Amino acid sequence: MIKRDRWPSKTLFIFAAVGSAVGLGNVWRFPYLVGKYGGGAFLFPYLIALFFVGFPLLILEFSLGQKMQKGAVGSMRKIDRRLSGIGLGSVLSSFGVAAYYAVIMAWCLLYIFYSLDLQWGSDTKDFFFNHVLNVSESASTIEGFSTPVVFMLLISWIMVYFCIWKGVNSVSSVIQVTMPLPIILLSILLVRTLFLPGAADGIAFFLTPDFQALLDVEVWMAAVTQIFFTLSLGFGVMITYASYQEKDNDIVLSALITSLADIGIALMAGFVVFTTLGYMSQESGVSIKELAASGPALAFVVFPKALSLIPGAVLLSIIFFITLVTLAIDSLFSLTEAVAALFEDHFPRASKKMIVFFICLAGFLSSLVFTSTAGIYYLDIADHFITHYGLVLMGLLQAICVGWVYGAENMRSYINRVSHFRIGRNWNLLIKYVIPLCLITFLGQTFVKNISETYGGYPSWSVMAFGWGLVALLLVICVSYSYFQSRSKPNEQV
Ligand code: PFF
Repeated sequence: MIKRDRWPSKTLFIFAAVGSAVGLGNVWRFPYLVGKYGGGAFLFPYLIALFFVGFPLLILEFSLGQKMQKGAVGSMRKIDRRLSGIGLGSVLSSFGVAAYYAVIMAWCLLYIFYSLDLQWGSDTKDFFFNHVLNVSESASTIEGFSTPVVFMLLISWIMVYFCIWKGVNSVSSVIQVTMPLPIILLSILLVRTLFLPGAADGIAFFLTPDFQALLDVEVWMAAVTQIFFTLSLGFGVMITYASYQEKDNDIVLSALITSLADIGIALMAGFVVFTTLGYMSQESGVSIKELAASGPALAFVVFPKALSLIPGAVLLSIIFFITLVTLAIDSLFSLTEAVAALFEDHFPRASKKMIVFFICLAGFLSSLVFTSTAGIYYLDIADHFITHYGLVLMGLLQAICVGWVYGAENMRSYINRVSHFRIGRNWNLLIKYVIPLCLITFLGQTFVKNISETYGGYPSWSVMAFGWGLVALLLVICVSYSYFQSRSKPNEQV
């Protein structure tokens, strides 16, 4: 029997889980969603989703991996081999997200260099879209690739390779730097931006709730998907990381620390972004709402412009983009590690380095499409469909399988046996009824909306290919895999 990799210490496991959770989702995705959904209005559903969906599911994923001692596919197979497809679905979603996540990390790497002389000048929008991305008019025209982005993409995947090529050992060394460093850098930025004139207006925008917005289902759906994304749920990553723990590790405490660190850093990033936007609004006369509503481009269009208005702009910009890169790298390699675990569980004798090499190569090749001149459109579509369908669906199926097939009570008694803080029967209720019902409702709503109008107003072929096509492919692969697995070896004993 080949011995499973082990984290050198419990602290390093927490570092790795926090490193995976805290990423671009906190500093890039969270603030632009807050901006898109009107500031404080988003915060309330976000916190509710964290408490009632994110935290219970994180406990579920940690317990699944730790109890079964396998990655996502192996863990589901141990419950019942017909469920293996669900694990595979998570891993495939991981791969899909990694493909575009690496491209965003490549933009961040480029921006570190652009920061040296604030190369974006005064028209940051033109710089980002025309100079960096070389973006084409519509999703239907691809006029080549952005060479600097492709180059940085290659560097990103090489970095990922060297972070995980020796498995838990290399991850453990890297994580000791990439987990705390961005927090320190973010604190420096926070101290600087809090004292800018106009900062208070930004904070007011960020924190003032708008209860009217709570009636909008879309805001709730966005909050739930953001929770999945930010806590790395539904990707199989947390299952994989927990499987490298001894079976008696404290699950509830680990989930608590990971969730608190994640939300703490999202809030901190929110303060940095909105104090800066408050300042910029004062300088430029444009409202904070308008500045914040720039969507995914917030970090690369509005923020560089805001930073260049502040005294000490070069240093602040360098710090900001290094923060983004160090945040991104441990999330990106956790996604890759989940895919690697699938192959390791299947081929325990294969060389880890080879497996990782081929996954990084495949990752690089798949990412290329997002570096094309129409790449940003495909990125937006893929992000919407993978997070709204892939992850939420996998989370839903995981909850149903553990809640109903394995038995929520069964899992809860294991969790309580190894944890200092015990969880009550309400956890069973959440896993068996509340979470599945909420997720089914949300999925249904999004489905109806996406069927009735083409997402984002993009050409319908592109939504078919990068949206529905990916979702359909995911489902076909999962169902066929489950089918073939069910005809192979008998279930393993749990
Ligand atoms: N949680 C990461 C973030 O917030 O940026 C993104 C992510 C990493 C998602 C790893 C999923 C994952 F498995």
